[in-house]
Amino acid sequence: MGFTRKESNIIIKDMTKPIIAPSLLSADFSNFATAVADINTSKAEWIHFDIMDGKFVPNITFGPKTVSDLRAKSSCIFDVHLMVYEPQFFIEEFAEAGADYITFHTEAAIHSHKFLINIRKLGKKAGISIVPSTPIICIEPLLPFIDLALVMTVNPGFGGQELIPECLEKVKTLAKIRSERSFSYLISVDGGVNEKTAPYIREAGTDVLVTGASFFNAPDKTAIVAQLKG
Ligand code: DX5
Ligand code: ZN
Repeated sequence: MGFTRKESNIIIKDMTKPIIAPSLLSADFSNFATAVADINTSKAEWIHFDIMDGKFVPNITFGPKTVSDLRAKSSCIFDVHLMVYEPQFFIEEFAEAGADYITFHTEAAIHSHKFLINIRKLGKKAGISIVPSTPIICIEPLLPFIDLALVMTVNPGFGGQELIPECLEKVKTLAKIRSERSFSYLISVDGGVNEKTAPYIREAGTDVLVTGASFFNAPDKTAIVAQLKG
């Protein structure tokens, strides 16, 4: 209510600094409204929603109603990360709930190409994600069809884990392919992003830094966002 969506963030970003996407996974689940208010004032541009089904990952979070109920409380870009098997059954609901980006795992879907096209048909940005053990070659055929590549730098399921540094090589590869083939997808890193790891993540060529524990544990949200941006 009373908010104007930051539509321009979907296409344009400050090329000198990465986008920061705090993840509600590390928020107080009994008080998402306050968490979103904290993100709104922090100068983070996106809000990251970790959707877990208890099968693809060993944890359960929340569904489209949470996204829908929070939509009116923020003008940030809503970045929905589906960690669920058979994501095709949830794409439309999250689109209706107000997601701007809908990202699913290629390991959880057989017909990834078709689902990416479906997300775009719904007027949303389409993202593909890979867990640490999945190499870039597995999503290479999908790169012409995506707006976002989300590189998991921890095994998904829980916040507060340590970043696996080897995964950052995948960011470099994605950035190289993007420049060689004139693609325009954003590259996102998710897992273990904090003040210590952020310089390496930025250096690898990351456009979007997802941050759970480091954001919600920080006493000064504006300061941590500025610090992660570098
Ligand atoms: C992990 C989630 C991440 C998580 C990151 O399964 O996909 O988005 O919230 O949390 P931190 O930043 O605490 O590693
Ligand atoms: Zn995530």
